[in-house]
Amino acid sequence: NAPARDRLRIAIQKSGRLAEPARSLLTACGLSWRQSRDKLFCYGESLPVDLLLVRDDDIPGLIADGVCDFGIVGRNELDEQAAARRQIGLPDTYQALRGLNFGQCRLMLAVPEEWDWQGVQQLAGKRIATSYPAILTDWLAAQGVDAQVVELSGSVEIAPRLGTADLICDLVSSGATLAANQLKPVETLLESEAVLAGPVRTPDDARAGLMAMLLRRLDGVVKQQD
Ligand code: PRP
Ligand code: ZN
Ligand code: MG
Repeated sequence: NAPARDRLRIAIQKSGRLAEPARSLLTACGLSWRQSRDKLFCYGESLPVDLLLVRDDDIPGLIADGVCDFGIVGRNELDEQAAARRQIGLPDTYQALRGLNFGQCRLMLAVPEEWDWQGVQQLAGKRIATSYPAILTDWLAAQGVDAQVVELSGSVEIAPRLGTADLICDLVSSGATLAANQLKPVETLLESEAVLAGPVRTPDDARAGLMAMLLRRLDGVVKQQD
C-alpha cells in the first residue's frame, strides 16, 4: 500500500495535444503553481495540489502504482493499458472518472489508399502495425479474425511504406497524418477523448476531501463549456 500523503498529485502530459488544455482546465478549477517552466514537478500554491508533467503513456501506471492521485489522459491510453493488464491477469486499479470534452480522436484501422476495402474478413493473415496491441488483439478476437499484430511505439503510419506491416491501427484526429502517408481509415475500434482518471479506491487520508472538491469544481467548469 502507498504511504499516506496530505497533498494531491495530478499527472498531465508534458507536451503534446493534451498538455495545454489539461493545464488550462486545472487553472479554471482554481489551481495555481509556482512558476517553473522546465520543471517536471509544479508545487501547488492556491491548494495542496501538485502537478507532474510526464509522458501520457506513463499516466495510467502512475495512478496504478499510487504515485499520482489523478491524471488527465486520453481514453485510448487508459483502455490500452487496462486491456494489457487484464490480458496478464492484473486487476483494474484505475478508472475514467469524467470525460473532459477535449482531445477527441478515434482509434482506427487504416489501409493503403489503393486498397479496395471489403470488410474485416480481408484482414486474415495481414500484419497490422500499432501502438495499441492490447485493444487491437481484443478487437481482432471479437471479430473472429486471425491477423498479426506488429507493435511500434511511434511513427506507425510509415510501416506500410517500409513493408514492415500491411496496414495500421492508430489514432486519427484531423486525418492529416493518414492523408500525408497515403492511407485511408476504414474501421473504428474506439472513440476517445481526454478523461480525468483516478484510482478505483479513494485513499483514506487528507486527499479524499481534496479529490471530492476538485471533482465538484471540474464538473462546474466542464458543464459551463457545454
Ligand atoms: C496521434 C497519432 C497520429 C496523430 C494523428 O499521435 O499517433 O500520429 O496523432 O493526428 P491527425 O489525424 O490530426 O494527423 P498523438 O498526438 O496522440 O501523439 P503520441 O502518439 O506521440 O502520444
Ligand atoms: Zn503517447
Ligand atoms: Mg502518435
